[in-house]
Amino acid sequence: MYCFRKVTDDLIWVGANDRRLAMFEGVYSVPGGVSYNSYLLLDEKTVLFDTVDAAVGTVFFENVEKALDGRHLDYIVVHHMEPDHSATLEELVRRYPDVKIICNQKLAVMMKQYFTFDVDGMTQIVKEGDTFCSGAHTLTFVNAPMVHWPEVMMTYDTTNGVLFTADAFGTFGALNGALFADEVDFDRDYLDEARRYYTNIVGKYGPQVTAVLKKAAGLDIKYLCPLHGFVWRKNFADIIDIYSHWATYKPEKTGVVIAYASVYHHTENAAECLAVRLREKGIHTVMFDVSVTPASEIIAAVFEYSHLVLASTTYNAGIFVQMENFLYDLVAHNIQNRTVAVIENGSWAPTSGKLMREMLEKCKNLTVLNESLTIKSALKEDQLADIDVIADALDATIPKKTEVTPVAPAPKADTAAETAAPVMDTKAMFKLSYGLFVLTAKDGDKDNGCIINTASQVTSEPNRITIAVNKANFTHDMIKKTGIFNVSILSQDVTFDTFKHFGFQSGRDTDKFAGYEDAERSANGLYFLTKGTNALISGKVVEEKEFETHTLFIAEVTECRVLSDEESVTYAYYFAHIKPKPQPVEEKKAGWVCKICGYVYEGEELPADFICPLCKHPASDFEKLQ
Ligand code: FEO
Repeated sequence: MYCFRKVTDDLIWVGANDRRLAMFEGVYSVPGGVSYNSYLLLDEKTVLFDTVDAAVGTVFFENVEKALDGRHLDYIVVHHMEPDHSATLEELVRRYPDVKIICNQKLAVMMKQYFTFDVDGMTQIVKEGDTFCSGAHTLTFVNAPMVHWPEVMMTYDTTNGVLFTADAFGTFGALNGALFADEVDFDRDYLDEARRYYTNIVGKYGPQVTAVLKKAAGLDIKYLCPLHGFVWRKNFADIIDIYSHWATYKPEKTGVVIAYASVYHHTENAAECLAVRLREKGIHTVMFDVSVTPASEIIAAVFEYSHLVLASTTYNAGIFVQMENFLYDLVAHNIQNRTVAVIENGSWAPTSGKLMREMLEKCKNLTVLNESLTIKSALKEDQLADIDVIADALDATIPKKTEVTPVAPAPKADTAAETAAPVMDTKAMFKLSYGLFVLTAKDGDKDNGCIINTASQVTSEPNRITIAVNKANFTHDMIKKTGIFNVSILSQDVTFDTFKHFGFQSGRDTDKFAGYEDAERSANGLYFLTKGTNALISGKVVEEKEFETHTLFIAEVTECRVLSDEESVTYAYYFAHIKPKPQPVEEKKAGWVCKICGYVYEGEELPADFICPLCKHPASDFEKLQ
C-alpha cells in the first residue's frame, strides 16, 4: 500500500524506509534502519527528484503512481548515481518511457555505466546555474562534487526555497512516521546517527562540503530535503552549524576518546587507569574496545571530541589488527585538529606505539603528545606515574572552564501573593543599555567584520572582556577557528554607512575590506576601524560557552588603544540619531518590520523562528506594521 507525506502543498515525499538492512554500503550497521527519500513535485509539469534503493522499490512505485493520481510523469531530476538512490531508475524509465531525465554530464556518464536504456535520448543535461521552469516553480542546479561522489548535484527551487541536498544533511535511521526534523527530538534521538552518517560517508570530503555550505549560505532556504533522514523546515542554523564543524574538522566538544585494543585486558587496564585520572580532573571521557565496537562509531566519536588516546598491544610485530584497521579508516577520513596520546603494549618487542605514530603522520594538524607509555605485558605500580604524566599532558591542552557558582534557591513563599507567576515582560530587556561595535577577525587571507552590541569588560585584573556572537555570522566562525578578534568601539560621529557595510551583508560572499580605507591593522594582524570609532580592544579567547544561537567568548585583552574623544554610541543613540526611519510601506500590505535594521517581512503572520536575513535578529525584534 502506498505511504507518502506532503512536504508542501505541491511537493510530496514518496520515499520509503528499510529496517531490514544489516549493513549500509556493506560497511555500516544501521540498527535504526535507513530512509531513502524521493520527492514528487506536482506542478504544470510533474517532476520527481531521485528514486530509491531496489530493496524498497515496490512501495516507492506505488507511492509515485498514487501521488501522480493519473497524471503523466514528465521529468526526473537525478542528483546522485549511487544505487541507494538510483537503483530503481531503469524500472522507472520502463514504467514512464516518455520521462525526461534532468542531470549533469557526469551523472549521464555514470548512468550509462549502470544502465542499458537510451541515456542520451532521454537526458536533458544541465550545468551549474542553469534553470528549469516546471510551471509555477523555477529550479536551478548546483554542482556538489564529492558530496559524496564526483557527479553529485543539488537543486534549488527558487519559488518556494526548497533545497534538494542529495546526501548532505542526511542521517541514518528510518523516519518512523515523522518526516520533519522538528517532529522528533533530533538532538536526543538522531544527532549521533547523523554524525555517524556524515563522518563515515562524507567525512573525508570536508573542503567540498564547506564549498557547498558557502553556496547554500547565499540561498533563501525554507526546506532542506536530503536523500536520507528528515526534511528540515526550521532551525536550519542548528544543522548547518553542526555540519560546518564536521566539515572543518573542528571538535564539537571537549573530551577524550580512548580507543584501545587489548588481547588479555592488560592494555585495557592501562586505558581504564588513564580514564579514571582524566575523570578525576573533570575531563569527559568515552572508551571503545576496537575489537567489539564498529569503526564507524569510533570515527564518529573522534569527530565529536577534541582529544584521542590510542592504546594498542603489539601483534605479529605490528599494531593489533583491529586497531590497525580502525586507524586506516580514521586516516582515510581525513581527521584533523585533534590532540592524540599513544600507549603501547608488547611482551617482548613492543612496536605498536611507533607504528601508530607513523600512521598518524599522514593526518593534517594532529598534535601527537610526546608523553607516552610502554607496557611490557601488564601495567606495574611504578608505571602509574607515567599514566599521571599522560593525564597531565592531556589536561594541559584542554581549555579550562569557569567554575559556576550555584545560585542560592529563592526563599519559599508563604503567602498566596508571593506564589504568583513571575512577570515575563521581555520589553524589560530593552531597558538594558548597550554599546555598538564592529567586531573583526581574520582567517588566512580573509578579513571580515560584523556589528555586535555585546562587548563588555568582565574583570580588569586580569583584563578580560566578553563578546557574544551570533553563530550565523561568518566572523563567528573565524573567531572559533583563530581565537583572536578586534573590537572597534563605535563613536557618535559614525555614519549609518558603517552599519550597512558591516551589518547588512555577509562576509561569506563579500570582501568587506576590499577597498575599505578607514581601517588599519593592530599588533595581532587584524583590522580595526579608524573612522567613527573611539577605541580598539584586541582579544585572545581563553574560554567559550555555547548557547543555542550564540557563542560567548571570554578573552584576554592583548591590546587596547584610545582612538578619539568622541562619545561612544549606545543602542538608544543609534535609534534616535543614526538609524534612518523605516521607509513607508504600502498601506494595504500586512507585514512586520525589524526594529534593528528596518527589514520588512511581508505577511500577516511572522513565523516564530524567523531570523532577520539582514541583521540576523530573531522574531522578537520585529514589530507589526501599523
Ligand atoms: Fe545515499 Fe551517496 O548515497
